[in-house]
This record gives sequence, C-alpha cells and structure tokens, in this order.
Amino acid sequence: MPRENKTECLCGSSECSNYAGLDAIIDKYIDMEGNLIIILQEAQELFGYLSRDTVAHISKRTGHAQAKIFGVATFYAQFRLSPIGQNLIMLCQGTACHVNGSEAIEKVICDELGIKDGETTEDGIFTLNNVACLGCCSLAPVMMIQNAQGEETYGKLTQEGVIGILREIKARAVAQSA
Ligand code: FES
Repeated sequence: MPRENKTECLCGSSECSNYAGLDAIIDKYIDMEGNLIIILQEAQELFGYLSRDTVAHISKRTGHAQAKIFGVATFYAQFRLSPIGQNLIMLCQGTACHVNGSEAIEKVICDELGIKDGETTEDGIFTLNNVACLGCCSLAPVMMIQNAQGEETYGKLTQEGVIGILREIKARAVAQSA
C-alpha cells in the first residue's frame, strides 16, 4: 500500500496535528499484511478509544475504508468507540464469580450508576466492563477498578458493599474536581 505524506494528511481531522504517535504506529505496520487489527489495538492503547477522527486518520493513511474499520471495531469486543470513564470497573463474570452471584452484583452496579455493560456514566466517572476470570477465584465475586492511581481488586463482594465502594470513589472524584 502506498505511503501518504505524513505532513499533509487528507483526513480533514481537526486533531490531526496531535497524531504523531498514531502516525508512528501506522508507519510501523503499514507494509504488513492484515495490519488493521494491530493498528487499531495500538491506537486504542494510545488514545483509550477509537474516535471518529482517529478512524478517519487511519483510513486515509492505510487505505482501509472507514466502513471496514468501523466494521472491525464493532465486531471485536476489545475495541471501544467512545472514551472510558476515570474508573474502569472490570466485573468478573467467570465461572466462580458467576456461581457466587456476579450477576446480582452487576445488577446493583447498573442500577446504582444507570449504565449497562460497556457503557460510561454521563459524568465520566465510571465505565463498566464485564470480563472473564480475573485470576483470584477464591475471592469470588470479584471486581477490579482501574484508574489513574493504578488498580485495586475488591473481593467477596456483597450488594451493599459494592454500593459503598462506588459511592466512595464517586465522592472522591467529585471532591477532586471541585
Ligand atoms: S472466576 Fe472470577 S476471578 Fe476467577
């Protein structure tokens, strides 16, 4: 596939000048057969999600049609088309957690935050993702919360306990932004 002039991107994106990192990723894989998924994975790692502008830029640089890129990005659960919240809740739905009530925990989280699996709260504080086994089954049911400070694992979750955890994190986030 022919390379395009990096300093003269045709995507029309207003963010284009911020795309040096993305261009470096594209350059790395541009001549590789079947390069789309690895480019999308690394672009998501860079930006946290795949915005319309990011997709437009990748399309222009690689020659993959935007429709094809969106098709791939929506087919694979690993890709996100909207930004994640400050706190990514990874709720385990593996066998041990399932047997120990992870579905009920999910319902409590969804009710408390007003979102479903894969969604982000309007205030941008939380994103919920159901995940497979987190590797600490003896603590089932388990969730891990990842944010700028790192990640924390919460085990032996109860419905009341999970509400307390979420409210505490939200209170902290609100206090920090005040
Ligand atoms: S099944 Fe949930 S941590 Fe293993």
